[in-house]
Amino acid sequence: MNKAFPKDFLWGAATSAYQVEGAAYEDGKKPSQQDVINKDNYRIYGFATADVASDQYHHYKEDVAMMKEMGFTCYRFSIAWSRVFPDGVGEVNEKGIQYYRDLIHELKDNGIEPIITLYHYDCPWALVEKYGGWLDRQIVKDFEYYARYVINEFKNDVKYWTTINEQSIIVQFWTQKCYIPEDLQDNDQLRYQINHHMNLAHAIACKMVHELVPGGLAGAALGYAPIYPLTSRPEDAMAAQNAQALQNDYYTDIYFKGIYNKAAQHYLEEHGLAPKIEEGDMELIASGTSDFLALNYYYSGCACSMEDDGSVKLHWAGVNREGKKGATSTLEQQPGFYQMCKNPNLDTTDWDWAIDPVGMEYMLRDLYNRYNKPLMITENGLGAYDTLTEDEKIHDDYRIDYLKKHIAAMKKAMDYGVEMIAYCPWSSIDLLSTSNGVKKRYGFVYVDRTDDDPKECRRIRKDSFYWYKKVIASNGEEL
Ligand code: BG6
Repeated sequence: MNKAFPKDFLWGAATSAYQVEGAAYEDGKKPSQQDVINKDNYRIYGFATADVASDQYHHYKEDVAMMKEMGFTCYRFSIAWSRVFPDGVGEVNEKGIQYYRDLIHELKDNGIEPIITLYHYDCPWALVEKYGGWLDRQIVKDFEYYARYVINEFKNDVKYWTTINEQSIIVQFWTQKCYIPEDLQDNDQLRYQINHHMNLAHAIACKMVHELVPGGLAGAALGYAPIYPLTSRPEDAMAAQNAQALQNDYYTDIYFKGIYNKAAQHYLEEHGLAPKIEEGDMELIASGTSDFLALNYYYSGCACSMEDDGSVKLHWAGVNREGKKGATSTLEQQPGFYQMCKNPNLDTTDWDWAIDPVGMEYMLRDLYNRYNKPLMITENGLGAYDTLTEDEKIHDDYRIDYLKKHIAAMKKAMDYGVEMIAYCPWSSIDLLSTSNGVKKRYGFVYVDRTDDDPKECRRIRKDSFYWYKKVIASNGEEL
């Protein structure tokens, strides 16, 4: 028999600081690496900068009121490190931390549980200039300084803490997520070194939550795409297992077992890509246990076998910058291990992301069976072009269809025993995409702006806004 969603299940949505806040240089905030990266994206591709984004910094009361209207019981957002510590460390920026106090109190006054992400791609630029940001091990100490301050500040208001957003995606798409000087961009080992530093930072943050927050729970937010084999050929099944090891288990084994996945580590060592691990690192990682795993699920992956005959070099996935199906330049190839391919059974978004609600159930059941820890969805959604009609409506039935099928799949996983804490689709409101400007929209609320012109960032409710409100009011019964 199908069970109902538990009464205390959290319904909400997610955003991240630089993608939604704007006020990039206001009230003492200094730039993060994303302010710099997105200025380049504007120059090269014409995508919006992070200067204004959706201007949530000035609209947060209106935005929280809309969350309340939809019935949210949680909101996942991130803290901008360089708003709190403009130079990364040192003096706190009183006005910056006050913004988060105000936001959190506004949420709590409206019965909305804050779910904080400590780090979402936005390393303070001062630390990038000082020592290269995550490239240098010193960042772990500086992150600890920042995280301790924030966790202490909100320990009585915030129960759920996600540490670092999407280490797996940072490894795969590192130059969009980290500022990497051009002369280092060919050094693929650094991707895994950055990830190792993040593993240390993640473990420290988990330990700190346990130490400082009464009843506090901590976990990473991981970008996760389950991998299918292209065919039932044993070689393809093996390739899918390899891709699963390198793209997914490499992270989840750290969070829950405190070890690097053996197959992935073997492959990385063979290819000179493994991170340098110092004495005591693995003990620290193992001691920073996660209470849950937060998952950002948009698509599944598909892999097939790939010989290593020496003719092809390791090749990372490209990004679809055009928003036209088929415009993704390249797919990942790890010679001798696997190559990623298009799944012929699935339709895609205009940005080539495979639409796969079954993948949601597949991922949740697999992870829960292997690690036996509660899960939450901290991102899931459809990036699409929306049209504002003359009578100021947005008929986003395609988004409703996507979300409906994914919630149904999550529910099915729960019927099979998976313990879920929350569902936070991406995103509560339109925001700056990490790779495609503001024309690729995700929100329940339309933000009236273009890539070139932030206008007034007026908020307009989409059809999906009213649909999600009904879903929440019925505790997921009415999809
Ligand atoms: C996730 C990120 O990878 O995907 C978000 O955590 C991001 O920050 C989201 O916005 C959607 O990706 P994109 O590239 O469409 O913004």
